[in-house]
Amino acid sequence: MNTFVSPKAVSPTSLHQKLRDPSLFKEQACVGGRWVDADNGETIPVYDPATGSQIGTVPSTGAPEAIRAIEIANSAYRAWANQSALTRAQIMEKWFDLVIENSDDLATIITVEQGKPIGESRTEISYGAGFIKWFSEEARRTYGQVIPANETDRRILAVKQPVGVSAAITPWNFPVAMIARKCAPAIAAGCPVIVKPSEFTPFSAMALALLAQRAGLPDGILSVLTGPPEGIGSVLTGHPTVRKLSFTGSTRVGKILMRQCSETVKRVSFELGGNAPFLILDDADIDLAVSGVIASKFRNAGQTCVCANRILVQDGIYDRFADKLAQAVSEMKVGNGLEPGVAIGPLINLPAVEKVNRHIENALGEGAKALLGGVSSGTGQFCGPTILTGATASMLVAREETFGPVAPLFRFKEIDDAIDFANDTPFGLAAYAFSESMHRALYVGERLEFGMIGINSGSVSSEVAPFGGMKESGIGREGAGHGIDEYLELKTMHIGGMNRPV
Ligand code: SIN
Repeated sequence: MNTFVSPKAVSPTSLHQKLRDPSLFKEQACVGGRWVDADNGETIPVYDPATGSQIGTVPSTGAPEAIRAIEIANSAYRAWANQSALTRAQIMEKWFDLVIENSDDLATIITVEQGKPIGESRTEISYGAGFIKWFSEEARRTYGQVIPANETDRRILAVKQPVGVSAAITPWNFPVAMIARKCAPAIAAGCPVIVKPSEFTPFSAMALALLAQRAGLPDGILSVLTGPPEGIGSVLTGHPTVRKLSFTGSTRVGKILMRQCSETVKRVSFELGGNAPFLILDDADIDLAVSGVIASKFRNAGQTCVCANRILVQDGIYDRFADKLAQAVSEMKVGNGLEPGVAIGPLINLPAVEKVNRHIENALGEGAKALLGGVSSGTGQFCGPTILTGATASMLVAREETFGPVAPLFRFKEIDDAIDFANDTPFGLAAYAFSESMHRALYVGERLEFGMIGINSGSVSSEVAPFGGMKESGIGREGAGHGIDEYLELKTMHIGGMNRPV
């Protein structure tokens, strides 16, 4: 039985009182280096999902501020692109240092506006800071090529140059890490970037931008626009000066943004929805598989695009695995993420809770059994973790991304059938396979149609590795060396007349 900690156990002090450096709590947008209110004077409220209380407000900016941010970015572009890579790297290293120095405050901001447990917020800060550090290093390695030409009097150079003014639309589930994953490669490559963070989690974005400013990032290289998505989004996708859009969010919204970007043929990189299968073979190490499922499924209360959505367990191990998982998950404390020991925080909003309940009700109605948890009621935005046995392919939990702490266990006999079921989805972001036989694990891994495969690991997230999906889960890769290429154009220069006497 899970323990629920009453949200009222945490004192309702305001966010800035909880911070060592209260100036990190900014209630203004950052347009071209200036902290501003909305032109129309309007604001939107931001709420703590654990308590429902208002944390503060942010300017309801829209098209006019977006256009201004783009124009300022464009005027700052050449000077930034023409800086040496070393100078860009040094400013980014300073930014990284400031993020690490302020990690307690940044983690508090994340937990208060997003809800995840404070320990997970700290992990997110080091994950996000990792992108800043990594891309500060990659800034200096955007090597081109000298290509042997067919003609002896010709030289061919292929050089990498920044794509230009870029935009990033980022989600609420990792309010620091997703901004860092997009902005750090853009800035390292020499591109100014305009960020539209989720309206649920703007304060993390502001704090990150403020630290970039303190690190010496020139005005116009990083702007943050707050407010409802539509007005800002249509300028970012439609304006001809913006040459690249990076988006993390749903496949539905990704398709709309892609259509809008097509008018000006922008470069896009999208990380969209998932429906991750998690295969546990008969010969898996059960304890390792249990901790893998917990890491993947219950991180951020199941609100990640890469989290296990369908847990496929082979017949011979199914019952033992289910019991061990239920035992481990029953010890997870649910409550306000600021409380010590809490492992599962609130969901982001009530529609998210309703979706989780709808999935559980549908599964129970179609014959699944709740080994732990069940439909939540009267718990506000908190959902206790649920484990369902007897899940089948026709249930909503098999077809849609639940985005909550529900672990449906599907039983399979033959590995090839499990692979077919795993691939039977339009999504292809992450998948997982657990087996003590490397041969069997690789057999499965090679056949899964997903961009990232965790083998005997419930985690696929790291700044050093390519991150991204196949099929309707996205386009492009973030992180690793590939992440900076998304912000670089390849330009070929053909140089003739090289055989003339000097
Ligand atoms: C996501 O859920 O969109 C990102 C998860 C991660 O980077 O690990």
